Amino acid sequence: MPRELITIQVGQCGNQIGRCFWQQALAEHASAAAALGGRATSATYDDCMSSFFRNVDPRSGRDLGVGTPLAALKARAVLVDMEDGVVNETLNGPLGELFDQRQLVTDVYGAGNNWAHGYAAYGPQYGDALLEAVRAAAEKCESLQSFFLMHSMGGGTGSGLGTYLLSLLEDSFPEVLRMVTAVFPSQDDDVVTSPYNAVLALRHLTDHADCAMPVDNQSLLSIAAATATAAAASSIADRGRRSSTGALSSSASSGPGFDGMNSIVASLMADVTASARFPGSLNVDLNEIATNLVPFPRMHYLVSALSPLRVPPPPQQMARRASLPAPERGPRGTMPRLIADALSPTRQLMRCDPARSRFLACSLLLRGDVTVSEANVGVEKLRGSLDMVHWNREGFKVGLCNVPPPGLQRSLLCLSNNCCVAQSFEDLRQQFCKLYTRRAMVHHYTQFVDQSVFDEALESVTALIADYEELNTAPAPAHKQWAEPAF
Ligand code: GTP
Ligand code: MG
Repeated sequence: MPRELITIQVGQCGNQIGRCFWQQALAEHASAAAALGGRATSATYDDCMSSFFRNVDPRSGRDLGVGTPLAALKARAVLVDMEDGVVNETLNGPLGELFDQRQLVTDVYGAGNNWAHGYAAYGPQYGDALLEAVRAAAEKCESLQSFFLMHSMGGGTGSGLGTYLLSLLEDSFPEVLRMVTAVFPSQDDDVVTSPYNAVLALRHLTDHADCAMPVDNQSLLSIAAATATAAAASSIADRGRRSSTGALSSSASSGPGFDGMNSIVASLMADVTASARFPGSLNVDLNEIATNLVPFPRMHYLVSALSPLRVPPPPQQMARRASLPAPERGPRGTMPRLIADALSPTRQLMRCDPARSRFLACSLLLRGDVTVSEANVGVEKLRGSLDMVHWNREGFKVGLCNVPPPGLQRSLLCLSNNCCVAQSFEDLRQQFCKLYTRRAMVHHYTQFVDQSVFDEALESVTALIADYEELNTAPAPAHKQWAEPAF
């Protein structure tokens, strides 16, 4: 039985990440990509594809069930932006056929980098339209498991309307999981109001999401730069071998822009949903992640790291991937290497260092040719070396999905519910306070909301930080310091 997911991409960042995500989703479901590209394919629509895609009869507009030949594919997605430029680009690009009008909620003016405009003005104005679009998508599912919201915290639409929508989802679909990928601003973000927007949105993310995977643009940028360097190195090595096709030449020369950063987030989402889409010897679906990794409802922030680095092909090649020669598989990382990399501070998608703080729980989601015993040996070594809360020392969750990400033999996504996240929130809190002690720019917000929302948001983030800090420092019986795993 398929367990469907509906992505809800809100604002510029949410929609640009969404675009990368759908490119990767197609790359992972190669026959779907071939059908979308108009190539003849005898492939059938299967359970794996049905998690993310509908198969629609182009004449009747009716959904065709699993086991039917591929027809017109539609993404299970809702695209929302109050400034419709990015959505229009998507519709006019190679992925345009994946979406139709009922999946869109757009306006033309934007929320001007103001959380309150998105939340308190666009929220009530577009609430019904948003719910209608979500309902229409949900009605096409047999067993809807999760919403997957993608947005930035630093702007107006994604942060404001995105968090407004989160509480609508909680009221209207209480039984459906609410997962969120939230992009936090870098410390030198050029949106001057981003600390306000992020802290105001964080309160609602804390209250209304089931599980959030925070990423920040500073970390994404440095990982994308490292990836581009790796890509440049591999493309030099490849040049001689594959000069005739140039199939996987990298885009490293243009440097890591948002595309490079967004494809890292897209990989995170592809990996966390891999078990819902593909067979595996230890399946971990999203409900299990939420159950195992979130011991308290508000403390649902999962720091993520991908190992090894992924070198995505350029976007236009992603969509055509099905017609390309099979990618050469990258080196087969050993389990100790994958784990050590995934715990490195330079690989975290949020600026923090989980190995130096206490874990509430930890999940290793492996893909590719990894055996159960290899995974168990890896976990056993970790068990003795990570600082886990004493009441959840066994809090490791391992997933094994047989299908690796394109171009790799095996991969690891490490999700940590770890107290280190408090430091990132504290940095953000301080940036917020720098502006708020002078009440700078507050008048832009009080056009839409009462000033008390600032105090409530500040209280909420302060309490969240305190909760993590308390767990991090609480003395534990037989408490062990973290030590470098002896691999
Ligand atoms: P308004 O434009 O204010 O209505 O809201 P919005 O949700 O469209 O804003 P946007 O998503 O542009 O939010 C701005 C924040 O998102 C800043 O921190 C940007 O650096 C970041 N951002 C914008 N686009 C992207 C993107 O494609 N990828 C990443 N990683 N960050 C982005
Ligand atoms: Mg915008």
